[in-house]
Amino acid sequence: MSDKGMKVHNIVLIGFMGCGKSTIGREIKRALGFQLIDTDAEIEARAGCRIPAIFAAEGEHGFRERESALLEELRAKDLQGTVVSTGGGAILRAKNRDTLRQIGYVVWLRANADTIYQRTKNSRSRPILQTADPRQVIEELLTQRTPLYRDCAHLVIDVGGLNRAEIVTGIVESARYFYSQL
Ligand code: S3P
Repeated sequence: MSDKGMKVHNIVLIGFMGCGKSTIGREIKRALGFQLIDTDAEIEARAGCRIPAIFAAEGEHGFRERESALLEELRAKDLQGTVVSTGGGAILRAKNRDTLRQIGYVVWLRANADTIYQRTKNSRSRPILQTADPRQVIEELLTQRTPLYRDCAHLVIDVGGLNRAEIVTGIVESARYFYSQL
């Protein structure tokens, strides 16, 4: 996968549901004065409804089409000083993984199944986890997706045991170094 044509000084957050992408995105926005684009929120705003309603009306495929189209649009925009927080499945398509790396420095916020289960068990806004055994689904999807997050990421941060400030500092310092080497 090539970084050719990569836009400078954007940070892209990837990782499983519940790993803190939206929260850390807001913190990076505050720390660096970046613009924040939360792809799930943008998809909802454009559709005029919440993600569960999109899944109900269009299926997961419809949602993925919207997600891929938005990422491609962001890539074409020549963004600067932007943090993009993505949905947990944004890395499923190879094309998206390539697009994300062209948008910016890709950081995988990695959490284990226990942490993810604890952080998502009361959420009703994630259709993929609205099943009889969400814990099992989390484990299966983590196994399936882990190589894809790894394939896409420039940097991985294990979020367990780190506070928000530590996570943000790690990302900002690493991104700075990365861009200084280009
Ligand atoms: C999904 C994750 C969600 C959202 C959608 C599908 C996934 O985003 O995009 O419900 O497939 O992992 P978060 O990771 O922000 O919860």
